[in-house]
Amino acid sequence: MRVLVVGSGGREHALVKKAAASRLVEEVHAAPGNAGIARQAICHPVSDSDIRGIVELARQIGAGLVVVGPEAPLCAGLADAIIEAGLKVFGPRRDAAMLEGSKSFAKEVMNAAGVPTAAFSRFVEYEAAMAHLASISMPVVVKANGLAAGKGVMVAEAMAEAEEAIRKCFVDRTFGDAGLEVIIEECLVGHECSVLALCDGKEIVPLEPAQDYKRIYDGDHGPNTGGMGCYSPVPRVPPALVGEIVETVHRPTVDELRRRGIDFRGVLYAGLMLTPAGPRVLEFNTRFGDPETQAILPRLETDLVELMMACAEGALDGRQLSWRQERCVTVIMASAGYPLTSSQGDVIDGLDADGGLEGVDVFHAGTAEEDGKLVTAGGRVLAVSALDNTFSAARRKAYEAVDKINFDGMQYRTDIAAEPALAER
Ligand code: AMP
Ligand code: GLY
Repeated sequence: MRVLVVGSGGREHALVKKAAASRLVEEVHAAPGNAGIARQAICHPVSDSDIRGIVELARQIGAGLVVVGPEAPLCAGLADAIIEAGLKVFGPRRDAAMLEGSKSFAKEVMNAAGVPTAAFSRFVEYEAAMAHLASISMPVVVKANGLAAGKGVMVAEAMAEAEEAIRKCFVDRTFGDAGLEVIIEECLVGHECSVLALCDGKEIVPLEPAQDYKRIYDGDHGPNTGGMGCYSPVPRVPPALVGEIVETVHRPTVDELRRRGIDFRGVLYAGLMLTPAGPRVLEFNTRFGDPETQAILPRLETDLVELMMACAEGALDGRQLSWRQERCVTVIMASAGYPLTSSQGDVIDGLDADGGLEGVDVFHAGTAEEDGKLVTAGGRVLAVSALDNTFSAARRKAYEAVDKINFDGMQYRTDIAAEPALAER
């Protein structure tokens, strides 16, 4: 069968690679893809926001399955349009994607389902939000309700920062309509982790947990990014805890949606804080994480396309996943100026003719081809993933590969997976 992967980042490159390795798949297509994806898939110049264009393309190529990477098209109804065209899709319909598209909807569902999350209040007016701030103690977290490309969450240590965040939403309108509804929530303390699970509307099969690094600089300093690195599995989150998280978070959420007539099919990604009182949900995403996917999928032995078809068809029941024992460490290489801006057109040196490197996976995110040369074309440029028996060895392998790659202004963290590597000693 032919699979069409929608999106253009490192996550989609990892999905394309797994799709290409599936025993069910003869041809992988991508829209729009990137310079790395083009080495493994047939890329089509159709934007992921062009719903009619994607459906038309899926029809033309006779796609047996369309896999949607990013959240924006899901929230805009891409999965609905694909289903209406009589095709199969991996990714939730619009109503289920609202778990990511509206934080207040997610909170309301969590409260109804008894899912543990930070206490919160919701505001649609500047004055009321400001008045609320005056009545609570710092720190707090201010969140734009809608999709804000990962930038709508502001952790405020002091009152002035919290006020500034509220102003950004309602007065400066930094997040457009996404910021006209605001959540102010309790600031949780603990270790973060990501637990993604495959869902078919009813059944839930967790993937191995992953640890994302959100800040741009070593030691978790500097501004938040889309994610600067990742590792999987997470020693702090052993299988029994994953099981507990599925039963207290994913299952009640999917059940509550089903009670409302909403069928969640795809990946339900819980961003969690492990607090002394137990795991608490920070956010839901309704898709694979980036860079979590680049650290999780290299370890998955089970045929991913078979699993995604089972999700699309409501046939996940009884599936067991099989994983490689090695650890995976993923280092993101970002362009100059990221995350505030990004630099385009810087020549990337050091990769082989396939855009990769021996012994590691090099997933392309913001890359393009210009005059036969590979150049930067976005904030996050490459994700380098390495597998080995220990975190120390996987880390060494990943950074040896990173050392071979070069482009002007490149930025990467040097402390990815340093913590689990140290704990191994
Ligand atoms: P989100 O996009 O909701 O994952 O938020 C981005 C980041 O903000 C998270 O990864 C956390 O580091 C932080 N964050 C979000 N909500 C909270 C919270 N209630 N308490 C503390 N940190 C939070
Ligand atoms: N790594 C965080 C995300 O995919 O949203």
